Amino acid sequence: MVAVDPMKEQRIVITGSSRGLGLALADEFLSRGCAVAVSGSSQASTEAAVRALKEKYPSARIEGIACDVRRLEEVERLWERARQLFGGVDHWINNAGVGQAMLPIWEIESEEMENITRTDILGVLYGARVAMRGMAEQGAGFIWFMEGHGSDGRIMKGLSVYGTAKRALRYLAAALAVEARGTGVAVGTLSPGIMITEFTMGRIDRSDAAVWQRTKRIFNILADKPETVASFLVPRILASHANGKHIAWLTGRKILVRFLAAPLLKRRVIEE
Ligand SMILES: NC(=O)c1ccc[n+]([C@@H]2O[C@H](COP(=O)([O-])OP(=O)(O)OC[C@H]3O[C@@H](n4cnc5c(N)ncnc54)[C@H](OP(=O)(O)O)[C@@H]3O)[C@@H](O)[C@H]2O)c1
Repeated sequence: MVAVDPMKEQRIVITGSSRGLGLALADEFLSRGCAVAVSGSSQASTEAAVRALKEKYPSARIEGIACDVRRLEEVERLWERARQLFGGVDHWINNAGVGQAMLPIWEIESEEMENITRTDILGVLYGARVAMRGMAEQGAGFIWFMEGHGSDGRIMKGLSVYGTAKRALRYLAAALAVEARGTGVAVGTLSPGIMITEFTMGRIDRSDAAVWQRTKRIFNILADKPETVASFLVPRILASHANGKHIAWLTGRKILVRFLAAPLLKRRVIEE
């Protein structure tokens, strides 16, 4: 059991929340009366997200704190600013992440490899370190990790570097959950399935008509808008009180049902 009082306003930090799932999570937390620190890798992306959220929730506690997770000092600053502004942090969500070009390992540019490693592994380790130190001092809090392809060990051609990072993240979450015992801090993992965000759509090759048609068909069956996934994850995050919690949106059962129902439902998340 963890010593966060669910009756109090929950104070949330989300890395990589300037767009995509992070922004949708911020929106959902705000709609439920939480205080949220929104964070993109740059000042400009952070401010743009904060502006949009403030228009929607004018009286909410929304703070923009830019943080490039590849830099430890910026992650430390994110914690410290949020702690000062909110008086503490109840949920820290390690969401920031980058994907990869769909290529085999030996064709990936070394700069891209380095960026994925620094963002998706080192950035998450920094988040774990910083949030764990701060929350252990508070004697309470939740640290969440955003899983992705590879977390469960499945292999897909062209996603090996990203998959390596997301596989490591599941180990890290499990290890931290053990190390956190007795501190009042809980650790959990979030599995968001497949979403229509810049992360996925920005990388799809539409120049090959056959590949695009195949991708579109699969996405129309399995993918969701980030808002849909956020509305599933957030209430479960807020209701969580155990260490080692795993919250998954696109379960094996849901995948089966989606494929079976596909001919009848003709779901459309991508139109053209
Ligand atoms: N989309 C999917 O289908 C999918 C599936 C499974 C898991 N996920 C995971 O879900 C998370 C969010 O994905 P998404 O689809 O929402 O991606 P997205 O739309 O590309 O958004 C990525 C977010 O991460 C931030 N970011 C990137 N590099 C950063 C850095 N070095 N420091 C701080 N922030 C950084 C971006 O901020 P700036 O724009 O300010 O740089 C942006 O806010 C990722 O961890 C991803 O691996 C996504």
